[in-house]
Amino acid sequence: MRYVFGNWKMNGTLAFAKEYVDKLLELVRPASVQVALFPPFTALGGFSDFVKGTFLKFGAQNMHYEDSGAFTGEISPVMLKEFDVDYVLIGHSERRHIFLENDEMLMKKVEAAHRHDIPVVFCVGETLEERRSGITRDILKRQLILVQDILSTGDIVAYEPVWAIGTGVTPTMEEIGESISWVKELLKAELPVLYGGSVNKGNAADIARVSEVDGVLVGGASLKVEEFAIIIEAFDQNI
Ligand code: PGA
Repeated sequence: MRYVFGNWKMNGTLAFAKEYVDKLLELVRPASVQVALFPPFTALGGFSDFVKGTFLKFGAQNMHYEDSGAFTGEISPVMLKEFDVDYVLIGHSERRHIFLENDEMLMKKVEAAHRHDIPVVFCVGETLEERRSGITRDILKRQLILVQDILSTGDIVAYEPVWAIGTGVTPTMEEIGESISWVKELLKAELPVLYGGSVNKGNAADIARVSEVDGVLVGGASLKVEEFAIIIEAFDQNI
């Protein structure tokens, strides 16, 4: 099984989501790829109806670790559970760097998701400065140290170098393979590890041929349904 996941970030109304899902279901019928989309919270309720009975899975982009309380603007696992989400993204680099979520908070989020039986897609990745300083492996180790024992069957890890996200720049295929092997070495359970960062219709087939890669987490290119369909097909063909 391989995975093609699309993170819409802060994009996509409910109307956009409906049109997108209808089109995607028309365009692809993957045989060996699990496809999931991560729309904004406001589209989750509609999404659960749109994808019911189809091959499409869906998830949330973030979550608080408490079930309820005085946390203005936050969404809890209990609320996500109501929509029956298939996954929750935890530790996306934008959450780490823009919203300053640290390793301890992220561990609490993984624990909370597990308490509510929500599988996580746990994101890790080094900045350009860290890569240039030759400490990529140390950074990935630090980001995984608190969760490596608790991530378990059903969870997924995404390796997303921060410098490749939204920049159009990607690591070489060798670099992707090396980092993903290292992540797999660090994990206690045998989990799928995805690559993320500027995946598009032009590089998807090359990435799909990297044997260590179990799939991709796509940002910008997942907003264009035709392009996302091409990426799904690239992974469906390169089993
Ligand atoms: P990108 O984003 O594909 O736009 O680089 C990837 C991600 O943030 O998951």
